[in-house]
Amino acid sequence: MDWGMKNRLSQLIQADGHCLFLPVDHGYFQGPTRKLEAPGKTIEPLLDYADALFITRGVLRSSVDPKRSKPIILRVSGGASVVGKDLANEGITTSMEEALRLNVAAVGISIFVGTDYERESLLNLAKLVDEGERYGIPVMAVTAVGRELEKRDARYLALASRIAAELGAKVVKTYWCEGFEKVSRGCPVPVVMAGGPQVDTELEVLEFVYDGMQRGAIGVNLGRNIWQNDYPVAMIKAIRAIIHEKATAKESHELYNSLKGEPVAVR
Ligand code: 5RP
Repeated sequence: MDWGMKNRLSQLIQADGHCLFLPVDHGYFQGPTRKLEAPGKTIEPLLDYADALFITRGVLRSSVDPKRSKPIILRVSGGASVVGKDLANEGITTSMEEALRLNVAAVGISIFVGTDYERESLLNLAKLVDEGERYGIPVMAVTAVGRELEKRDARYLALASRIAAELGAKVVKTYWCEGFEKVSRGCPVPVVMAGGPQVDTELEVLEFVYDGMQRGAIGVNLGRNIWQNDYPVAMIKAIRAIIHEKATAKESHELYNSLKGEPVAVR
């Protein structure tokens, strides 16, 4: 692997082999989703606790201070919306030249295995990998399920994750599921877990993050269950404790409870 590729990956995956990516890219198909209406305000208090931001170029340029050093995973697929015909009908929205101009650590693209747009999305991933290899930019593949959240089982996620790795993704973002080791063992590149829509309790989130880490995930790319929480800073710190400090779900839940009343520092 070339120096540039290795350097970028090491910005994302920390010395302990783990990572906490904070996705704030949801607006590219959901519009001003709850608690991300003003992305800059949502991101600012959380930035110190994330290892990288997953973000579109529009929100990066408009809402993130370029002087604040934080590795960027640039969302480069899109073209569909929640009110359109099919969420799986995505193309590549952002060139590799833009990614270089924005000095990103990686680019991210969704694939839609099992949909009418499976072939296009997989060929888009392969094309992006070709370009990324040329310039030393890793590609994170997102195993997207669109509206079909029930697809999130080990069989499907293992299939989609393995295909992403075979096509050259350097990191695969998928969902946690029962038997997550089937996904991680079948995928020869690192796997990170997304959260999906907000779940009922903080403990549920902390439990699945902990379970996934024990079963082979290297970290998370987890958004709504952090920034839609009533206490997002307490939540990201609690998740960070599992990922980087070996906390159990119970310990991180105690941490969340002890932090949630604290005032949030504003720069
Ligand atoms: C949205 C994405 C998100 O990056 C991903 O789903 C993680 O966010 P969340 O934890 O909110 O599901 O790909 O398109």
